[in-house]
Amino acid sequence: MDHTSTILLISGSPADFQVATDSLSTLPGYRTLVATTGDAASELLETVEVDLVLCDFATSERFDALRVLEHLRGSHPYVIRIPVFGGQDAQTIGSVVAHTAAYQYLTRPVLADQAYLLVKRALETRELARRHRLISRELKIDEDSALFNARQRETVRPQSFRFEKLVYVSEKMSELCNAARQAAKTSLPVLIQGETGTGKELLARAIHFNSERSASPLMVQNCGGMPDDLLGSELFGHKRGAFTGAIGDRLGLFRASDGGTVFLDEISEISPSFQVSLLRFLQEGEVKALGSDRIEHCDVRIIAASNKDLAELVEQRAFRQDLYFRLKGFQFEVPPLRERKEDVPVLADFFLQKHCGQMSRRLLGISKDLLDRLAGYSFPGNVRELENEIRRMVACAQDGEYLTVRHLSPELARLPVAPAGEHGDQVIVPQGATLPELVKSLEVQLVGKALQKHRWNQSRAARDLGISRVGLANKIRRYELPGSKS
Ligand SMILES: Nc1ncnc2c1ncn2[C@@H]1O[C@H](COP(=O)(O)OP(=O)(O)OP(=O)(O)O)[C@@H](O)[C@H]1O
Ligand SMILES: [Mg+2]
Repeated sequence: MDHTSTILLISGSPADFQVATDSLSTLPGYRTLVATTGDAASELLETVEVDLVLCDFATSERFDALRVLEHLRGSHPYVIRIPVFGGQDAQTIGSVVAHTAAYQYLTRPVLADQAYLLVKRALETRELARRHRLISRELKIDEDSALFNARQRETVRPQSFRFEKLVYVSEKMSELCNAARQAAKTSLPVLIQGETGTGKELLARAIHFNSERSASPLMVQNCGGMPDDLLGSELFGHKRGAFTGAIGDRLGLFRASDGGTVFLDEISEISPSFQVSLLRFLQEGEVKALGSDRIEHCDVRIIAASNKDLAELVEQRAFRQDLYFRLKGFQFEVPPLRERKEDVPVLADFFLQKHCGQMSRRLLGISKDLLDRLAGYSFPGNVRELENEIRRMVACAQDGEYLTVRHLSPELARLPVAPAGEHGDQVIVPQGATLPELVKSLEVQLVGKALQKHRWNQSRAARDLGISRVGLANKIRRYELPGSKS
């Protein structure tokens, strides 16, 4: 289900807009999402591509509508803003419209035809503005380039693909996102694996918001470091007094997101006994709150994520095989950034635009030198690390500049400029004065690289290095390397 336009309604009382949103949904390719608080709205704006926001000023006691729209003007300038008033005087209306640079405003009660026409026209205007911007940007880039030398003229403003907030051009990500779009059409569980910062959560959110469940809640639960009691009560709910500290009844996430999706992050971390409870839920769709003997049914889709390899954990008997099989209705592996270097320029450009918007900076682009340098780096923190780096550089640069290597953080600038190897790996440069120091440095780097490559799967890393697993474990201990990522 691909949407052409997404409308976000922010209101403390969305039911008042039912007629209008129903009529909007009759426009083909349109979807309406609802947020009842400013925080929920910000989260949605970071998760899905929103085109137009209707913001209700009549329920302002539930959230600061003016602040939300003003912030949106800076953070997402191209999202159309339409405030909806209820009883405000002309002066207030005029001032809000001016401050938020609103496209138009509506007044309550919002009539279906009125909303329909306004939204349709607004989106048409936005599309025209977008095309105008593209054309004039091309003209502007030509003009700008004439002022710069040949190297800088190679500044890239690449075309990219999108799956909600996931930006990519690589073949690997295209395949992944296409498969995920297919998976979104079903209600089967999804297991997403990949290193830290690769975009697992972004992918989970994109799947939910492209599924039939997009109008129902997506709830996120991090399973790392949670004792069973607490995790159980979060997910299944509890009756008052079920355990020390259970003061009132609590509806668990599974029931609260009935009809929607629950995203279980760091699934590898759940205890063996909790694995049993979760398996039962996946098999029967039954929820029994802690301390209650009533069985309730609920229909939620599970998306789980892990940066450890569950198959490996199953092999080590640390994770139940039956649960693993249940979870991987679809199984996706988000590749590390160093294995899809083509994505670096488009991501860098995307983060440049994003953070320029957020910090009200006007930068011209990213120089070719900088892109070359970034392409040679292995990004152990993946996309998150790239984003942090760009954010830092945007903060340091001056308006009217291109980002260049001189804006790089000291850590990245210090790295030797290494030609990309077969897998885009960095060249290993041993450090030290004596032979033992050099050998140690070489070993640390090679072992670290193998571990990273195999996502801390020690058997595979050992095989790759041509040593035994015990031998590898000894080296990890001797050099005090992280044995696993967490
Ligand atoms: N393809 C992408 N396009 C745009 N932004 C991305 C992409 N991939 C990741 N990001 C950004 O990188 C950051 C990390 O992404 P996310 O939280 O989804 O990673 P993760 O795999 O869940 O990481 P972790 O395992 O550490 O929880 C986020 O800020 C996200 O917006
Ligand atoms: Mg995550």
